[in-house]
Amino acid sequence: MSLPYKTTEEVRQTFLGHFLKHDHQLIEQSGIIPRNDPTLMFINSGMAPLKPYFTGQATPPYPRLTNVQDCIRFVDVESVGDSYHGTNFRMMGSWSFGDYFKERAIELAFELITEGFGIPAERLSATVFMADESLPGVPSDEESARIWEKFLPRERIIGRPPADNFWGPAGTSGPCGPCTEVFFDRGEEFAERKTDDVLVPGRHIEIWNAGVFMQYFKDEQGNFSPLPMKCVDTGAGLERFAMILQGRASIHEIDQYEPSYQLINQRIGDTAWTRIILDHLKTSILMIREGIVPSNTREGYLLRRALRRAMIGVFL
Ligand code: SER
Repeated sequence: MSLPYKTTEEVRQTFLGHFLKHDHQLIEQSGIIPRNDPTLMFINSGMAPLKPYFTGQATPPYPRLTNVQDCIRFVDVESVGDSYHGTNFRMMGSWSFGDYFKERAIELAFELITEGFGIPAERLSATVFMADESLPGVPSDEESARIWEKFLPRERIIGRPPADNFWGPAGTSGPCGPCTEVFFDRGEEFAERKTDDVLVPGRHIEIWNAGVFMQYFKDEQGNFSPLPMKCVDTGAGLERFAMILQGRASIHEIDQYEPSYQLINQRIGDTAWTRIILDHLKTSILMIREGIVPSNTREGYLLRRALRRAMIGVFL
């Protein structure tokens, strides 16, 4: 069953409009290079430039914020070429700083996905934090599970260990906490890998980290301390939502990228390499426009690597 079509720009406007309607303030996105944060090489999430608001070092302009932030993440570089991984993406984000917490965050997420985007609840699952010995002292998030039960059947509310459902910090230290993620079921034809898990990679795609419940600060030594206030940090990939609502084969083939995708694909003829080339060129442009030049270290090395891999693809 196809979903209501939205252009990428309409997806962006729908997300921001929802949070503005619910009394959030729109803030400018920041550049891709972190300021005053040596723990992080690139802005990797909407919350990264807002770290001082979580720790109480700075006061947010309003307790509820929203924006769309360009991000670079190299952790997924080996997966680029599949349908939904990239080294760059735009993160649609919303935040509550000491204002609402789990219940309102989950309500706002469910309302936007089902009413704002018209995605049927039958195609959604949610994961919640499930404690284990890898993170002593952080209890399972029964509260979020109970809140999700208002919207989803119990079998589609799935407990996940810290490796999956404890987010952050962005960088080596900073705010972090247990999270709840929403997955969209693309259908049986997308069951790309066999697995015993309820959520099948390639078929069930994470579309929204619908709440990191920021409660801890992790320091450089790995110690956790409570944050001065409880906060919510959400992040959803604009390209993933657009892919789903446009029925496209990948995040690289959404309306805004299609002309570039076609241009490359006509020459390369290989789907995975077309996606890699397009992704890596976009990441390189994001870096170059902020003054990074190819080099042997840090950001410059990653730029060199991205450009080199894109060129290998072209000359294969
Ligand atoms: N910081 C969280 C993430 O990146 C939610 O935005 O997934």
